[in-house]
Amino acid sequence: MIMMINLQFQYKHLLGFLSEEEIHFMQDEVDVSHSLLVEKAGKGNQFLGWIDLPSKTDEALISSIEADAKTIREKVEILVVIGIGGSYLGARAIIEALSSPFSAFQNDKKHPIVLYAGHNISQDYHAELLKLLDNKEYAIVVISKSGTTTEPAVAFRLIKNHIEKKYGFQEAASRIIAVTDSSRGALKILAEKHGYKTYVIPENVGGRYSVLTPVGLLPVAIAGYDIRQLIEGASEMQKICIETPSLLDNPAACYAAIRNSLYRMGNQVEILVNYEPALHYFTEWWKQLFGESDGKENEGLFPAGADFTTDLHSMGQYIQEGQRILFETVIHIQKPKHLLTIPVDEANLDGMNYLAGKTLHELNDMAALGTTLAHIDGEVPNLDIILPAIDECSLGELIYFFEFGCALSGYLSGINPFNQPGVEVYKNNMFALLGKPGFENETEAIRTRINEE
Ligand code: PA5
Repeated sequence: MIMMINLQFQYKHLLGFLSEEEIHFMQDEVDVSHSLLVEKAGKGNQFLGWIDLPSKTDEALISSIEADAKTIREKVEILVVIGIGGSYLGARAIIEALSSPFSAFQNDKKHPIVLYAGHNISQDYHAELLKLLDNKEYAIVVISKSGTTTEPAVAFRLIKNHIEKKYGFQEAASRIIAVTDSSRGALKILAEKHGYKTYVIPENVGGRYSVLTPVGLLPVAIAGYDIRQLIEGASEMQKICIETPSLLDNPAACYAAIRNSLYRMGNQVEILVNYEPALHYFTEWWKQLFGESDGKENEGLFPAGADFTTDLHSMGQYIQEGQRILFETVIHIQKPKHLLTIPVDEANLDGMNYLAGKTLHELNDMAALGTTLAHIDGEVPNLDIILPAIDECSLGELIYFFEFGCALSGYLSGINPFNQPGVEVYKNNMFALLGKPGFENETEAIRTRINEE
């Protein structure tokens, strides 16, 4: 098969732990899970809309998003994206991966600065945000599939109040776009009442698989990035992932098979490692995708993240010599956006002249290789994902690779990777403690429990 993708998945740093034969021993199981997935016959199959989403995204939707993005970009300095979990992390992962880390200090007008709200309920965070917005031109994208999640609903109430006072009701309404369910939820009702432009989150796409719907596409387009390339990259990966379950040809199937084998061998934690700080929020997105999909029925790999080399100076000791329950999946970027060479210094007081003439990227690569070898020696299996660059197309591929790998992993473990029943427990306690109408019995029970403790 001719692979059109840029992403390479390699397991050469795994072979001391798991042989080729042991990996390929998984093929039969993968065949079964793959067919459940692509034939939409497995657990949670009402949430498989993401599977062919990239190839089915229609031109009208893309053009509409691009047109709205242009209008907003032309009139604002700041875009506030309100959402939490799957309604927040995907957009942030892509925007931060593609943006300068110092974009807040660059006022180029082409790229509004994107700030986030409703992903926590910190009073100080939101008070500082409102203070900043007093003197800025801004617009809001509010995202919630259910339309009733407490954190973004409260943040939206606060910021809606602010934007209406600042611009008046009519202008405020033109600066708000809602992304929500097609028919249900409080956000839908609010949007209709106030006449906000809305985009729909398809019914059959769950929050953590929704980054390639308007949930991710709209904020990414407003931030000034190419959503067509993002979708194109994801479509290429979609073709390969759906076409074959072969561990030789389908990188996501191979990844799913290996992480399940490693789990069955006693590894309990997968660390997603990057050497580019721009990928920090990509890791946060990945943590949600795998955490909510895998962590069920007292089972599942714990998804952790590390930004190297930074975290080698904090978590490196544990990874090298702590409990042997870890493996790492390392993302490598072949070509940085910039060139930076280490200069010669005649005095050489810092002793760094042996590095003069090398690029910082060569140094980063050697740090990665040295770390992999050290961690293998420390009995931490390593998997490698290699991308040519951090750009929209590669990110699209990487997103779909992980979505497919995650869903297939879930089926290999026999769980439903598309629900998240455990997330409700804290919410119910919080509602009971806050006296939410309808929770009267729970309120009484929780008060008795607190008094007894
Ligand atoms: O993946 C999920 O389903 C969750 O993380 C949700 O995205 C998150 O709870 C936000 O939900 P909603 O979009 O309904 O506000």
